[in-house]
Amino acid sequence: MSSISDPSSRVIGKVEDYNQFPAAVNVDNDPYFIVHSNSRAKGETPVYKLVSAICPHAGGTVRPLEDELICPLHYWSFDASTGESTNVPGEQLDCQPLAIQDGYFVLQASS
Ligand code: FES
Repeated sequence: MSSISDPSSRVIGKVEDYNQFPAAVNVDNDPYFIVHSNSRAKGETPVYKLVSAICPHAGGTVRPLEDELICPLHYWSFDASTGESTNVPGEQLDCQPLAIQDGYFVLQASS
């Protein structure tokens, strides 16, 4: 098991600092959202993901609206828990799994 001092891990933020999702964060000056994928299933352990806020169509910045992330440029919409488009089949926001280690959201570096 890796720890947050593991150089292959990247700390995104302290879990207790986020109590509403999607939660906006910046990573390397790029906008992302921390989302959780089973927010509607009470009693289940949430699965967290880091989802890019940059629209794959033409680079707009998506914004949360109810259970979706909406791009204001041409209105592509995305499921806020998975990043998958809800109106353009096959499209999705970049999405990476987040782990929780020692009370922090941690992004595992891809190898
Ligand atoms: S840039 Fe997002 S829908 Fe076109």
